[in-house]
This record gives sequence, structure tokens and C-alpha cells, in this order.
Amino acid sequence: MTVTAIVGAQWGDEGKGRIIDYLAQKADVVIRFQGGDNAGHTVINQHGKHALHLIPSGIFNPATQNIIGTGCVVNPQSLLGEMESLTASGVNLDNLWISSRAAMLLPYHRTLDVLEEGARGKDTIGTTKRGIGPAYADKAARTGLRMGDLLHPEWLEMRLDNALTTVNRKLEILGGEPVDGQEMVELCTTFREKLGGRIVDTVPMMRRSLEIKADILLEGQLGVMRDLDWGIYPYVTSSNPTASYAASGAGLPARVIDRVVGVVKAYSTAVGEGPFPTELFDADGQKLREIGQEFGATTGRPRRCGWFDGVAIGYAAWLNGMTGLAITKLDVLDAFETIKICTGYRLPNGEIIKDSMPATPLLHQVTPVYESWAGWLSSTAGCRTWDDLPKEARAYIHRLSELAGIKVDYVSVGPEREQMFAV
Ligand code: GDP
Ligand code: IMO
Ligand code: MG
Repeated sequence: MTVTAIVGAQWGDEGKGRIIDYLAQKADVVIRFQGGDNAGHTVINQHGKHALHLIPSGIFNPATQNIIGTGCVVNPQSLLGEMESLTASGVNLDNLWISSRAAMLLPYHRTLDVLEEGARGKDTIGTTKRGIGPAYADKAARTGLRMGDLLHPEWLEMRLDNALTTVNRKLEILGGEPVDGQEMVELCTTFREKLGGRIVDTVPMMRRSLEIKADILLEGQLGVMRDLDWGIYPYVTSSNPTASYAASGAGLPARVIDRVVGVVKAYSTAVGEGPFPTELFDADGQKLREIGQEFGATTGRPRRCGWFDGVAIGYAAWLNGMTGLAITKLDVLDAFETIKICTGYRLPNGEIIKDSMPATPLLHQVTPVYESWAGWLSSTAGCRTWDDLPKEARAYIHRLSELAGIKVDYVSVGPEREQMFAV
């Protein structure tokens, strides 16, 4: 039995989905532990190409139980759309479950997200506008509904009534239209009809899984730099993508996690606002975007691109207690003669920081300290073992591993399932 948390080690979109799809071929259970349909986890396999938003990336293995965990915010409408698209591609959804304790995201959360972003003026967060912040805010304020409420119609109506009193006041202040309670009840009735049979108490399932020594994967969304507590606040999401939250969000005791795999691109990208020290505005940045096809899987926005950030990875590895790295998109660097790695941040007073992330206002002012590495100028797309990699690529990966302070477990050299190997 192994319980493995798979977490994003940068600003999101590191390739978590494809790593989970690969590992899920041998997993009994995959649980998404936080986030909502702001995620876009791309998986390419025999079922085609899918950008998963809420459904765990282990769904392509029909023998794997896939659970949307308690730490998630679930938009039932969007979940149903995703289910429909997977079913159309021949994917079996018999083993898809939703925690009854997961928060429910309703259409007014999306409206609030858009209005709140508008109200921030120039200082926007650049959210995905999926309603994630407002849904988690309602959860924390205890005005939210849970997926399990769908199974208790009278309770649900009472809870909706209670929620809408506050929601409608907020909407009025922000210039939105009030929500009609009856319409919401009817919408929830259709959600109950379509999803009710999948809403479960995950505790007996997880107890049983531990008893039978199942292999369990805990799927994170986004990455540590957008963590609510440890990221570049306020330009963060409203949950915790770090491994410390994996057990809680999945519904497992904290001490059962055996491995924490940090997923990192061989360079850096970010979507949305906030400081991103190694961002490139030159031809190299453009080249990374073009070769890496760096456009958001959920919003289609062009991703900001830059060199690998060794300070951020050290921070991410320590904070998550990572046991190994999964390095993705190595092939994107095939065409670069010189590749840079950031090994420190120079503050305006000349001090160089290496062992933590400065506060957001300072992070805006740092200058990255770079070292240069020779590129390999040959295709890695066909490499299937460590020894297949050009020696310059091995040296580059060694350096990334050294900066993280942990070993490398996996390397990927293309988006397809088989373009990946264990080290
Ligand atoms: P996630 O949100 O962490 O699952 O990552 P995304 O799916 O948002 O972004 C990763 C993108 O890179 C997707 O388009 C993947 O198909 C693609 N990708 C993943 N690994 C590799 C790789 O090794 N090489 C290349 N070229 N593309 C990759
Ligand atoms: P995956 O799981 C990249 C970013 C948004 C914004 C901030 C807050 O595919 O890696 P939110 O909508 O969560 O309130 O937005 O977080 N963001 C992501 N960036 N990948 C994602 O998911 C993201 N989910 C949110 O751009 O900066
Ligand atoms: Mg993504």
C-alpha cells in the first residue's frame, strides 16, 4: 500500500493531470483534494485529449475509484458537462464519486467572482472567473451548501434561504441581479436527480481502502505559489494546494501519506496576476510559449513564461515535504542553445535570498540571479530511460534536483502517456 500526494510545485499547470493519468494505471483510488473547476488537468491517452476540471485524472482506468474530495468546491453544472464529454469519448464513469461533505458551487458564485474582480479595479487577481473564491468564502462563513445537502430537500431549501439573504445583499451592492430562490431549488432538484447516486460519505470507503492496503493517489490542483497561505497572497486561489492539506481535503489521517511527488515544469509558467520573478518578456519567453503551447487549459489565456525558479522549488519542496520530483516538458527546452536557472533573488538593498519566498510587495522588486547551462539541441521526445537523455539534459535535471534538495522520480518528454519514464 502506498498513499501518494501529487502536488503542483510552481504556479500551476505543471502537468499534474498527465502524471496522475500515468500513475493511475496502477492505483486503486484517486481523490481530488481541493479546488474546483478552475483546474484544467490535461490528459492524453487512448481516449483522446481531455482537459479535466473536476473529475480526478484517474478516471481513465475503469478499475480505479475516483473521488471528488471534501476539500473541493463542486459546480454540479460543470461536473455534468464534463461527465457528458467523457461518456461521449467512451470513458466509463461507474467509479466516480463525490464526497457528501464537499462544498457546492452555485451559479451565483460565478456572478460574484466576476463582479468582485470588476470591483478590484486595476488590482485584479486574474481569477478563472469560475466562482472559486466566493464558494470557499461561503464555506468559511458557514453560509455555503454542501453536495450532501442535495440528498435532504427540506434542509437544502432552508440552507438556500439562509444563503440567499446574504448573497442577494452582496449582489445588490456589486450591481448584480438578485437570485430567485425558487429557481435555485429547481436547479438543485435536477442536480439531485442526476448526481444523487454518486454523493457518498467517503469515510467508510477510505477506511476500507486503508484496511485492504490500497494504492491511493491524492490529486492536487494548482501549485504552491498560488496557495492561500503560502503563495503570493492576494494573487492566490482560495484553498491550499500544498500536501499538508491533502489528507484533510481527501479525508484521510495525516500520517498515512507515504510519498509526496512535486510536479514541476523544466521552466516556469503562470496565468493570472501577481509577481513571477523569472518572467521573460523577450524572444526566449515567446519561444517557450510557442513550443510549450502555453495557453490555459481552462480559460485559454496565454501563460506567462520564464526560466526555472530554483528559489521557488526549494521553498515548494520543503513546505510540501516532497519525497521526489516529476519533471515535465523537458522536450520544450530541446531547441535552446543556452538555458538559465534562477538560483537566488537579489533584493533592492543588494541582499540575496535563497531559502524562502519574500513577501509579495518585496517579490515584486526582486531581480533573479541566474546561472547558464548548455542546451542539448537535440530531440528528447523519443527518450524512454534516463540513459537515453543527452548528457546536457541529465546535467540540467541534476541541477534542478539539487536546488530542490530531493531526488527526481519521473521525467516527461512529451504530452502522451508513454512519453514519460520513472528514473
Ligand atoms: P496541470 O494543470 O498541472 O495538469 O497541467 P495542464 O494540463 O494545465 O498543463 C500542462 C500542459 O502541458 C498540457 O497541455 C499537457 O498536455 C502538456 N504536457 C504535459 N507534459 C508534457 C511534456 O512532457 N511535454 C510536452 N511538450 N507537453 C506536456
Ligand atoms: P491547475 O489545477 C493555473 C490561478 C488564476 C489566478 C489565481 C486565482 O490546472 O494547475 P481562482 O479562479 O482559483 O480564484 O484564481 O489562480 N489559477 C490557476 N492557474 N492553473 C490552474 O489550475 C489555476 N487555477 C487557478 O489564474 O491567478
Ligand atoms: Mg492546468
